[in-house]
Amino acid sequence: MNTVPYLTFALTKGRLAHQTLELLAEAGITCEEILDKKTRKLIFVNEEQRLRFFLAKGPDVPTYVEYGAADIGVTGRDILLEEGRNVYEVLDLKFGACRMCVCGREDSREKLKHHEMIRVASKYPRIAKEYFYNKKHQTIDIIKLNGSVELGSMVGLSDVIVDIVETGSTLRENGLTVLEEICPLSARMIVNPVSMQIQSDRIKRLIRRLKESLEKEH
Ligand code: PRP
Repeated sequence: MNTVPYLTFALTKGRLAHQTLELLAEAGITCEEILDKKTRKLIFVNEEQRLRFFLAKGPDVPTYVEYGAADIGVTGRDILLEEGRNVYEVLDLKFGACRMCVCGREDSREKLKHHEMIRVASKYPRIAKEYFYNKKHQTIDIIKLNGSVELGSMVGLSDVIVDIVETGSTLRENGLTVLEEICPLSARMIVNPVSMQIQSDRIKRLIRRLKESLEKEH
């Protein structure tokens, strides 16, 4: 019987998972099962390398990692900032690069210059509050939305929005613009603090290999 413990990865469903698997493959970490598009399985195993992988919604990834249900996770920095989980952020994977911004109609720019109370719609209330309260010292009324946040500014729900901007085309096509940049974002690798001690050698070796692959690319 193999007594080597599994190293469990929680990946973010969708494009981020594909990019993560590509990078892991460069570092010699593979999982045949997960590449099968037809499968309905939720957990994928590489017995030989004693690895397990599962796919989760982005905001759930740091939850799995904090509780130790996964040793390692990959998700966006936006999610890590918003969720504020107790995990180690060990690597910037560089892909999924975009920006967290305050956006709105050009005529809303004035409202960011004074300390007047404004309405801000966002999927990221924690990031929005942190920025406005601690950096700008401006009081806001935050309205939580779950998607298509741009609508908030367009239909008069809010004065501005706080949202992710990647290419900027959603803003452009809807008559909105970036008013202020909050921070850059990209995919990050996170590790459970206890796993980092217990499986220290294995995890550090993995981080080293991934770093080498990333350096080759950039
Ligand atoms: C994200 C984000 C913006 C858009 C930005 O939304 O919230 O709406 O992408 O990308 P762009 O700058 O390249 O246009 P997503 O597509 O994830 O869906 P959502 O609006 O439902 O959150």
